[in-house]
Amino acid sequence: MQTHEIRERFIQHFVSAGHTEVPSAPLILDDPTLLFVNAGMVPFKPYFLGQQNPPFANGTATSIQKCVRTLDIEEVGITTRHNTFFQMAGNFSFGQYFKQGAIEHAWGLLTGSVESGGYGLDPERLWVTVYLDDDEAANIWRDVIGIPEQRIQRLGMADNYWSMGIPGPCGPCSEIYYDRGPAYGVEGGPIADDTRYMEIWNLVFMENERGEGTGKDNFEILGPLPKKNIDTGLGIERVACILQGVDNVYETDLLRPVIDAAISLTGATYGANHADDVRFRVIADHSRTGMMLMLDGVTPGNEGRGYILRRLLRRIIRSARLLGANGATMEVFMNTIMDTMTPSYPEIADARERIIRTAVAEERAFLRTLESGTHLFTQVAQEAKAAGQSTLAGEKAFTLHDTYGFPIDLTLEMASEQGLEVDREGFEALMAEQRARAKADNKAKKTGGADVSVYRQFVDEHPTHFTGYTQLADEAQVLGLVAGGQLLHTAEEGDEVEVILDTTPMYAEGGGQLGDRGTITVGDTLLTVEDVQKVGKKLWIHRATVTRGAIEVGQQAIATVDPTWRHQARQAHSATHLIHGALREILGPTAVQAGSMNKPGYLRFDFNYTDPLTPEQLARIEALTNEVVDADYQVNTFETSLAEAKAMGAMALFGENYGDVVRVVEIAGDFSRELCGGTHVGHASQIGPVTLLGESSVGSGVRRIEAYSGLDSMGYLSNQRHLAAHTATLLKTPTDELPDRVAQLSEKLRAAEKQLAQLRKQQLQQQAGAFVDTAITVGDVAVVTELLDGVSGGDLRQIATDIKARFGSRAAVIALGADENGKAPFIVACTPAAVDKDIKAGDLVKEMSRFVDGRGGGKADMAQGSGTRAAGFNDAFAAVRTAVAAH
Ligand code: ALA
Repeated sequence: MQTHEIRERFIQHFVSAGHTEVPSAPLILDDPTLLFVNAGMVPFKPYFLGQQNPPFANGTATSIQKCVRTLDIEEVGITTRHNTFFQMAGNFSFGQYFKQGAIEHAWGLLTGSVESGGYGLDPERLWVTVYLDDDEAANIWRDVIGIPEQRIQRLGMADNYWSMGIPGPCGPCSEIYYDRGPAYGVEGGPIADDTRYMEIWNLVFMENERGEGTGKDNFEILGPLPKKNIDTGLGIERVACILQGVDNVYETDLLRPVIDAAISLTGATYGANHADDVRFRVIADHSRTGMMLMLDGVTPGNEGRGYILRRLLRRIIRSARLLGANGATMEVFMNTIMDTMTPSYPEIADARERIIRTAVAEERAFLRTLESGTHLFTQVAQEAKAAGQSTLAGEKAFTLHDTYGFPIDLTLEMASEQGLEVDREGFEALMAEQRARAKADNKAKKTGGADVSVYRQFVDEHPTHFTGYTQLADEAQVLGLVAGGQLLHTAEEGDEVEVILDTTPMYAEGGGQLGDRGTITVGDTLLTVEDVQKVGKKLWIHRATVTRGAIEVGQQAIATVDPTWRHQARQAHSATHLIHGALREILGPTAVQAGSMNKPGYLRFDFNYTDPLTPEQLARIEALTNEVVDADYQVNTFETSLAEAKAMGAMALFGENYGDVVRVVEIAGDFSRELCGGTHVGHASQIGPVTLLGESSVGSGVRRIEAYSGLDSMGYLSNQRHLAAHTATLLKTPTDELPDRVAQLSEKLRAAEKQLAQLRKQQLQQQAGAFVDTAITVGDVAVVTELLDGVSGGDLRQIATDIKARFGSRAAVIALGADENGKAPFIVACTPAAVDKDIKAGDLVKEMSRFVDGRGGGKADMAQGSGTRAAGFNDAFAAVRTAVAAH
């Protein structure tokens, strides 16, 4: 049974039982505690906690959620069942059916015949586990379902008590396992062998709320949830592995084609040895995870989600290389995995080109890294060999890894090709140190984050009421004052304080738009608001300084937005949308937003695109943007459901949640329709002129456009005009003739410089003649010693060569020095006849060095040096004469 069908049967099974089908949420949700969605229940968390009412007809839902877990990345391909991306199929009951209902539903689907829509698994092969004291669940399995007692096993908290690993809903669970047979391990059920007995479905009886704590079993249970709920997770990949009769989750219909593509690209054989097999599986698994992350808007980077994506892509490239691939492979892998995944994720079709472009750009960059790393490796290896060592220092392997991103197994492999070993222990020790540093860093960050707990009660009990779409000032009650992570009762003149209000007209930073500036007043008391931030999605934090008087919790205040700030912020934000629209129109739909920032008068917009934009493209984007401004379209904002908004083609930023009511901002109809919570102008012409500053690269496959809007745009243009006018005055040329004039002038300047160099050369040649005439004779050797001003080391050589030639067959020594802005270059030249007398220029330069605090060296006929003390040349020249006299 194909994976796509396994998915459909799951949904069908639960929809027929009255569940509402919910599409998968994106992998990235607006939740700082969660890198990626890692379980089917994540989007439903508020319903479990009773914070929101589930919007589903029967209080039940079903979904197949995209999940990414990268904690076990090292296990990929080694075990038979670790995928970094997987699809978790689940059914959810919010206060409706509980243990018995969940168990019956699961059993029905797993063992129901294929003809009747089930998976047709043999009931004799199914085992279950329950939480230690959960007799209720155990009894249902035995008495209602009829599983023999010996196939019901009990496990402790670490295995059979599920929570998200952070405060939130939790409860005991019951897991269903499939016995894959003696070929896969020992008998004795899941407690004896979890490879042979493969977990396929986890039924969580979500009835409690957990508090802070660590690990899977070390946390406090705060108490029961308002209702008893069901959350389940069936691993689609694992069921596919069983139903398709393949050995592991990497060989199912979705991933096997990638392995096959890798076989033909690398020429290696699958199934020949374990190390290579692991590489094939890593390629298959990571290609899919990387592709799905890019689909949801992640781009490779050096931290957070971007780094995980980068690591996945690099592991693919490295594995392919270790299998024998020489060049680029990414495009083939991406195309292959997109082909297999598109039936379940049709949105891939639109993202295809963008994903390929991002992946290929990353591959190119990494291949270059590999090249420079290989360069360093060769050098290090040669040095080690030359020094008679048989081991590469751990420190070198670490540098290769840390600075060049050179993976250790490549270093090991290349070292062994050179007959060298690598000091693994030294390398690991350095890696451990680095990890410890990173951990300390993270901890420091968490402590910062832990302070957020002071906001907790406000988030839950007093979400801020935002009125700023229609008002610039509003009455508000002071609910809380916070400084240094502590709640205060009052704050006085000079204090910096975070103010929590029940209502606010001030926009909190979000969607790229910076927070408003403004004031909070209570009678004569004045607070200047310097920033507004959000905690979670619902609580506004006003960062302010008490400028006059004192403020107290409970007081009635007036919060006022700085109108100029807001006016210009609106202009910049609406301009950002127009530029996005223009970009897509001119560059095509793959120029997808990757990030943005806007504040009064200024904006920057990052988007996925690999090539630099041409000046013509920029000019067209600017022109189109300003045409839309000029056409003065009305800016429409309205609220709707996410599904509705998507159906209208609104550009969904990543992180919207199913069931959310979303706000759509529309300018000029289809030209710009985006989900956005920002503040915008009412009519396009209120944006004022938009001026592009230019574009640049901000990482692989991502480019940035910067622009000014409104008066800042005018200011910028006027400044440019003044610059041009001023330059025109200086050059005594009309402004529009400036380019020609500047071209002319630089041409002239080049010619003049050339002429000057020519003249200088002639002059030096003439001087050379004079120096010959003024040479003194020491013994039978002519000696020229001259100090020249403002002459460079290069010129010295030329003059010395000239003078030397003029002495012909005479024995002569020429020593020249120069005073060049504090430096003291010098040179000595000896004619062949002088060299015959065993006078060596190299020796004389060394002699001179002592007097000018310098260094130098060279051959017998010509040697050069450089000193730092030109005042020493008199003594240096005397030393030359003395040395010549000694011959
Ligand atoms: N939430 C449960 C899990 O992730 C079903 O395993």
